[in-house]
Amino acid sequence: MRQPAIVWFTERLHGPPQFASQTQAGPHSFGSTLTRLIMGLGVLSSVGCRPKPEPAGAVSIVVSGDTGGWIVPCGCTSNQSGGLARRGTFVRSLSRKGAVIVADAGGAVVGTSPYDRAKFEAILAGELQMGLAAHNIGAAEAKLGGDYLRGVQSTLNVPFVSCNVSDAQGQFVAPTHRIVDISGRRIAFVGVLSDSLQIPEAKIQPPGSAVMNLLKSLNGKYDHLIVLAYLPEKELRDFAASLPEADAVIGGPTGQCIAPERIGSRWLASATNKGKFVVSLRIEQHAKSWDGTIDEMTDQIEDDAQQTKNVDAFHRLLADRDFTAQQTSFASMLMGNASDERRIAGSDRCVDCHQSACNVWQTSKHASAWQSLTKTGSQVDAYCQQCHTTGFGLPGGFESVLRSPQRVSVGCEDCHGASAAHVAEPRLRTASYQQASYGCVRCHDRENSPHFSDETYWPRIAHEGTPK
Ligand code: HEC
Ligand code: HEC
Ligand code: HEC
Ligand code: HEC
Repeated sequence: MRQPAIVWFTERLHGPPQFASQTQAGPHSFGSTLTRLIMGLGVLSSVGCRPKPEPAGAVSIVVSGDTGGWIVPCGCTSNQSGGLARRGTFVRSLSRKGAVIVADAGGAVVGTSPYDRAKFEAILAGELQMGLAAHNIGAAEAKLGGDYLRGVQSTLNVPFVSCNVSDAQGQFVAPTHRIVDISGRRIAFVGVLSDSLQIPEAKIQPPGSAVMNLLKSLNGKYDHLIVLAYLPEKELRDFAASLPEADAVIGGPTGQCIAPERIGSRWLASATNKGKFVVSLRIEQHAKSWDGTIDEMTDQIEDDAQQTKNVDAFHRLLADRDFTAQQTSFASMLMGNASDERRIAGSDRCVDCHQSACNVWQTSKHASAWQSLTKTGSQVDAYCQQCHTTGFGLPGGFESVLRSPQRVSVGCEDCHGASAAHVAEPRLRTASYQQASYGCVRCHDRENSPHFSDETYWPRIAHEGTPK
């Protein structure tokens, strides 16, 4: 297998530029070297032209995990953490203090729909711009399947790693490891996935023995070993405890992120939860051991211009593809009990008979929920559409920006259910007869509406039939 090798150029104020080359399982290709510019600087040589051994310099490694599709933080309340634009600024700020590379422990998306794949590729593109050294195959990645992963790896040049995941045919989905040569240090990145997860698309070997087997063949080829481990917390801790060879074991998907802590000689950490936190490891010049921190990507961190462009490009792609609700993984989250008889009629069909309810609705924020998206261009994103449209994915409801322009904003039937039958014959009940108040938290969830309560919110939209 011919794999392009990636050349890193790292910022340094004095002295000759530093080079870093990446190697990985499988033979080298000196000819097809892909040169990548990091942080918009300089161009350089290929693998093999390693300069004279130089003193081990300072390096930072920023590790993300469980981004879960959150390419931008949720926009519904102002103080949400996360998003690639802030991560980009954070990484760039570290690059002023020496070489910096990024890695990801896995879990970058949630679904396997065409929409999720497009988002995954946009997240990878953003990570590549930050200087991605290794992206581990987490559960979500494994579900995308070996053929897809190998395809993305070759078209986008993504440095995936995984030493224990193969596809249904028994073929490894990614190289077992990558060795990045940076600032005179050879840093090996190895990836593992928990074998306790049920993933029909993948065969998963026990992580412990897979890593031990791999390390035998890597003996003497690296100076530092970073293991990206997509393991639940208990497994992550046991795994780290059993791996004295590692400098650090960094995971997800733990319930909460774990700030770097010592387990014997190595660091254990987890950057989890929607990309809100990243783990940073830093080693100073001449030093032999790392320091670790965890940082929250708060709204105090400015958006990085390059990453913002990447998100804009993702939005343009979404506008272009115009994914239908069925081409996303969100449709199934919605209220059921719709069928062809129970179609969405549209709020404009209610006005003739329910004038006062319509007046209340017209002046509520529900009726202008679409405008909240168009302000930032995010109306093209199905993730946002699912709560800011009428009957997302239901028969007669919102299908896509171009296909159903009249079903935008939160309508009567988001609460009352698909009501075409009722419109035709008012003696027939609406789909959510007497249950309209149960559905609020479907959209007003903790993430998007942290202050929601029936007592404070209902009075602001109360219309005929106000419950006691
Ligand atoms: C289909 C999703 C959805 C459902 C179901 C839903 N809402 Fe909303 N709601 C929204 C969205 C989206 C907004 C924000 C609109 C905007 O400003 O863009 C919102 C805004 C509101 C607001 C205005 C908040 C403010 O900032 O002033 C109130 C009040 C409200 N909803 C009450 C309710 C109640 C009560 C229910 C249940 C009876 C409910 N909503 C059900 C999506 C929903
Ligand atoms: C799970 C449902 C849900 C999703 C998904 C969702 N929203 Fe919302 N959004 C809401 C609700 C509910 C509110 C009202 C929050 C409140 O006032 O309590 C809201 C409010 C807003 C507001 C108004 C904030 C304000 O202060 O007036 C904006 C802007 C917004 N959302 C943008 C977005 C964007 C952009 C996305 C996609 C990245 C998105 N929303 C995804 C449910 C959702
Ligand atoms: C955010 C959710 C929501 C939206 C949007 C909404 N309603 Fe309601 N509506 C309710 C709730 C909750 C009740 C209380 C009775 C219930 O649970 O059915 C109610 C009550 C009613 C009633 C009286 C029911 C009865 O049993 O007396 C009518 C009629 C009605 N709504 C019509 C409409 C129309 C027409 C629209 C759109 C213009 C609309 N509603 C928009 C949630 C909503
Ligand atoms: C042709 C007139 C007409 C139209 C159009 C109409 N309704 Fe009604 N609606 C009625 C009448 C009449 C009742 C009372 C029925 C009863 O009590 O048997 C009613 C009752 C309701 C109720 C309370 C009982 C229930 O079934 O939940 C809700 C909620 C409601 N309508 C919502 C809507 C919504 C939403 C729309 C638009 C999608 C709509 N209606 C369109 C005439 C209409």
